[in-house]
Amino acid sequence: MIKKAMEEALNEQINAEFLSAYLYLSMSAYFNSLGLAGYANWMRIQHQEELAHATRFFDYLNERGGKVRLTPIGEVQIDFNGVVDVFERTLVHEQIVTGLINRLMDIAMHESDHATKSFLQWFVDEQVEEEANVEQILHNLRLIKGEGQGLLMMDRELQARVFVDPFAGAKA
Ligand code: FEO
Repeated sequence: MIKKAMEEALNEQINAEFLSAYLYLSMSAYFNSLGLAGYANWMRIQHQEELAHATRFFDYLNERGGKVRLTPIGEVQIDFNGVVDVFERTLVHEQIVTGLINRLMDIAMHESDHATKSFLQWFVDEQVEEEANVEQILHNLRLIKGEGQGLLMMDRELQARVFVDPFAGAKA
């Protein structure tokens, strides 16, 4: 049976992952409003990944006999100041999520909860990748100053992103 402090922290993370999904869906809508279908697609896939993260935490808490508590999801930003602004905010958001995952790991270590430590390791590694991906896009956007022909070329590249369920085959 999972300890209360760990249960509480995992419930908070379920909410944080759903909030991330909400934020990226909002960013996708913003890009659609600009007619940038590729950027909108990239954010839509990001949204799906966050839903997968949320449900993975949900499944894990169930597996461990914890009580799932689904709390209201906060309101997210709907207006942005261009493509660079969106990805700067995405990077800041992912850095915050990295901090949350590290905090979860700290609690698991403090509680000597080895199963949760093992479970969380995937998310620790995932955050390294998440931040690196966003930093790369941001770097490219800054090179093209977030405008012109380059913006449209990147739009076509980001259109190619497809969703791959990271937990396909994982125990529910
Ligand atoms: Fe669920 Fe983008 O981390």
